[in-house]
Amino acid sequence: MKRNTNFSLLSFLFFFVIVFNTFSMISVEARKNHSKKTKTHKYQKNKSNIASPGSHSPAPAPAPLPHYGSHPTQFSTFDVLSFNAKGNGIWDDSKALLAAWNAACKVSGATIKIPAEFKFLIKPITLQGPCMPEITLQIDGTLLAPPQATSWPKFSLFQWINFKWVQNFTIKGSGTIDGQGSQWWSSSQIYHMQKRSSKHIPDTKPTALRFYSSSNITVRDIRITNSPQCHLKFDSSKGIEVNNITISSPESSPNTDGIHLQNTKDVEIQHSNISTGDDCVSIQTGCSNVHVHNINCGPGHGISLGGLGKYKSAACVSNIVVQDISMQNTLYGVRIKTWQGGIGTVKNVSFSRIHVSDVKVPVMIDQYYCDKHLCKNQTGTVVISGVKFEEIIGTYAVQPIHLACSNDIPCTDVDLNDIQLRPSLNYRGFQQALCWNSYGKSQAPLQPSDIDYCLRSGGGLIRRIARSHESVCY
Ligand SMILES: *[C@@H]1O[C@H](CO)[C@@H](O)[C@H](O)[C@H]1NC(C)=O
Ligand SMILES: *[C@@H]1O[C@H](CO)[C@@H](O)[C@H](O)[C@H]1NC(C)=O
Ligand SMILES: *[C@@H]1O[C@H](CO)[C@@H](O)[C@H](O)[C@H]1NC(C)=O
Ligand SMILES: *[C@@H]1O[C@H](CO)[C@@H](O)[C@H](O)[C@H]1NC(C)=O
Ligand SMILES: *[C@@H]1O[C@H](CO)[C@@H](O)[C@H](O)[C@H]1NC(C)=O
Ligand SMILES: *[C@@H]1O[C@H](CO)[C@@H](O)[C@H](O)[C@H]1NC(C)=O
Ligand SMILES: *[C@@H]1O[C@H](CO)[C@@H](O)[C@H](O)[C@H]1NC(C)=O
Ligand SMILES: *[C@@H]1O[C@H](CO)[C@@H](O)[C@H](O)[C@H]1NC(C)=O
Repeated sequence: MKRNTNFSLLSFLFFFVIVFNTFSMISVEARKNHSKKTKTHKYQKNKSNIASPGSHSPAPAPAPLPHYGSHPTQFSTFDVLSFNAKGNGIWDDSKALLAAWNAACKVSGATIKIPAEFKFLIKPITLQGPCMPEITLQIDGTLLAPPQATSWPKFSLFQWINFKWVQNFTIKGSGTIDGQGSQWWSSSQIYHMQKRSSKHIPDTKPTALRFYSSSNITVRDIRITNSPQCHLKFDSSKGIEVNNITISSPESSPNTDGIHLQNTKDVEIQHSNISTGDDCVSIQTGCSNVHVHNINCGPGHGISLGGLGKYKSAACVSNIVVQDISMQNTLYGVRIKTWQGGIGTVKNVSFSRIHVSDVKVPVMIDQYYCDKHLCKNQTGTVVISGVKFEEIIGTYAVQPIHLACSNDIPCTDVDLNDIQLRPSLNYRGFQQALCWNSYGKSQAPLQPSDIDYCLRSGGGLIRRIARSHESVCY
């Protein structure tokens, strides 16, 4: 964050010219912080004033100032406190955040600052692009969701903080995004009894942080906690990097996925710790080229692809790599689940170097996934091919392996290499490995040794049938 003196001088002079020219039009208080060489813009509450921050910004700005266009413009900080945020955790600071976003959005390289040691109560909000490139949301303080589930705005039940159409954007910092979800977790009945409330908790529960139709997004270092439902969701997006984050909510919180990917491509999720009441990472239809590695997961439901093909829908998932994962105390380890009756394919999936500790079922393919007591057997299935399980090592609490492939079209090219699973000391009613309609190869070491007989060999005809189903996904 250094620039040469000439440049500073130039921008300083430029600053004066611009302020002089625009002073009569807009009321602005701009402040220079010499010690840090950053500039903080302070705006009045009047919304129209934030319409053109570039025109009175001392920092090099986008289009209106073409002779500055080629310089890096990393010197603009938009602190929410300068936009009338109170940061006391009680006052609604949504408007301040939105104003800071709208101002920063127009300045290439701008940083929106959520300062440490403040708590900002934010109502459901959409922060929308497109913005200038390389905008950063620096969260060092805390963002708090409204705690009352019953008064959550009905038009925004899908998410709390929604990023839409943003590109080349980073969220980082040592701060926390707190969904304050506890009211959402209790079943409405229990909630009614406790609070004698006549209002209902809505069935749709918000995701804490959602990116929609966005690209080249980095989320790093922050903590996301206590979401009403999913913590971090990427939907219809591309080019995602998640690194060094912590996601946590109580084990008893239902449906609180850690990271949820849907229709999203080119993703790397790494070096993060996730413990929630549901999946650590959930990969849904339309995802490809996803790399998940160096994750601590648990408690929760493990890492899963699916459920895919619900209500006879089409599902396409391919080129997924999950490796170097440590799982403690999860319900499942690595899992693919599909509903009966769907169409489409899951192919080229690799789960390797998965260390499991006291995981109920470490390895699972379930093509009979059903969230009710019993689902009808149906023809048609999301076809699974090319799934490698390698170096899955540790302890299980119920069943080491569960491969339940479709009656209609079996799984093909399922490989089990180096599986070493021992019953944990806490095992609850041990079951033998289950293997049904799964073709592939296995390679020692294999423990328990009955895994050796798990896979059927051959399956050339079935492989051809499986391929014929891929066209749905082109
Ligand atoms: C200027 O920056 C320094 C160092 O980061 C900080 O301690 C100080 O509070 C800042 N002053 C203002 C007015 O923003
Ligand atoms: C807000 O700014 C606009 C344009 O600069 C001006 O016309 C309007 O009077 C201002 N409103 C307030 C409340 O300051
Ligand atoms: C996104 O990243 C890719 C690869 O780094 C790059 O080619 C592309 O231009 C970037 N797009 C945006 C909008 O930043
Ligand atoms: C944004 O684009 C720049 C230049 O292409 C690149 O260096 C940076 O890594 C990108 N940031 C993100 C979050 O993709
Ligand atoms: C990870 O994030 C924490 C803040 O939450 C930060 O202190 C630490 O430096 C980050 N580590 C890396 C390797 O970036
Ligand atoms: C995750 O947990 C491990 C072990 O407790 C710790 O060393 C690491 O720093 C944590 N990483 C993050 C991103 O919190
Ligand atoms: C399988 O996926 C990996 C990881 O995304 C990729 O490198 C590889 O090219 C894919 N293989 C095929 C045959 O598509
Ligand atoms: C569905 O098919 C499986 C495997 O053939 C069978 O065990 C099960 O009883 C069937 N379920 C129903 C509800 O018909």
